[in-house]
Amino acid sequence: MRLKIGFIGVGGIASLHIQSLLRIDGTEIVSVYDVNKENAVKAAESTGAQVMDSAEQVLDPARIDAVYICTPQFARGNLEELAALRGIHLFVEKPLGLDMEEVRRKEQVILESGIIHSVGYCLRYLDTVQQAKAYLTGRQAHLIQAYRFGGSHPAEWWHRLDMSGGHLVDAVTHQIDMIRYVAGEFNEVEAKLGRVSFDSLQSKGSIYDAGSIAFSMEQGTVGSITESCLSPFHTASDLKLFGHDFFVYLSQNGAVLAIIDGGQNETITSAMDPYFEQCKAFVEAVTHHTQAPILSSYADGARTLAVTLAANRSSLERTAIHF
Ligand SMILES: NC(=O)c1ccc[n+]([C@@H]2O[C@H](COP(=O)([O-])OP(=O)(O)OC[C@H]3O[C@@H](n4cnc5c(N)ncnc54)[C@H](O)[C@@H]3O)[C@@H](O)[C@H]2O)c1
Repeated sequence: MRLKIGFIGVGGIASLHIQSLLRIDGTEIVSVYDVNKENAVKAAESTGAQVMDSAEQVLDPARIDAVYICTPQFARGNLEELAALRGIHLFVEKPLGLDMEEVRRKEQVILESGIIHSVGYCLRYLDTVQQAKAYLTGRQAHLIQAYRFGGSHPAEWWHRLDMSGGHLVDAVTHQIDMIRYVAGEFNEVEAKLGRVSFDSLQSKGSIYDAGSIAFSMEQGTVGSITESCLSPFHTASDLKLFGHDFFVYLSQNGAVLAIIDGGQNETITSAMDPYFEQCKAFVEAVTHHTQAPILSSYADGARTLAVTLAANRSSLERTAIHF
């Protein structure tokens, strides 16, 4: 049986998923929709899919088994719920949205529907991240330091706080998700977010250019995340975990892992393409109708979103937010 897939939103990230799916036997991209017709036509040309007139038309259970929703987070509407109610398996990009209540409602509908669901926290699929998680099982860090310094997305929506949630909600979400994945759940966040450079550059956007987030976790670990989306001379996306008898360092967005303790001093570099692994896992999950290969469920994505939205609120209200 061939797995028939539809795409809603075929911009930057969707084209990576399409390239991955085209390499996986037994899958076929049959329908695409994008508000930008040019993007839809381009995706259709590279896949042989049909361009549909609306997102709802893509969600036709007679035509597709699974859907990739890759619209920006402000433009998801009720698409995930529709897919679930129609029995269509769901891959949806991170972050899951900008409103926690809405995301929790969708989570409920998805869970009750019994469909397979996966959220685009692709870094979880790296073997290095898997090894860090395995090493940290049964060990507890006393301190976590994470940072993400880089550039901004070219799209206009990304620069609007009400459409993207900012660098923290859109991009640093990967580092926050990695912390949750390898070290447990957040307990409290307190954030300071600033816009010094953006203000002086008279940016038309409304997002922050820098942030510093202090946090504590359920088991007593404390830590900080520092981030900037305006860093032309230095980029980095790293996570460091300090224990009394170990040091774990995930650098280059998780692709390089160093573990140092009394018995070892080892550095491992991943050769994996996390986007491909994520697609492979989704196809396997849908084919065998099991969530087992999926490393980030919708509920998981919702929990990571809650941390980032709480950090935004913490900065705005100048208070710590407890979960
Ligand atoms: N997992 C990752 O590593 C990763 C990487 C990049 C982006 N993303 C996420 O993927 C999503 C899209 O990001 P992108 O970089 O592809 O953005 P993009 O701007 O490159 O593409 C978005 C596409 O969605 C289309 N679109 C917008 N509103 C739509 C609507 N209502 N209906 C249908 N199509 C619509 C746009 O025309 C565009 O083609 C974002 O949520 C982003 O955070 C995830």
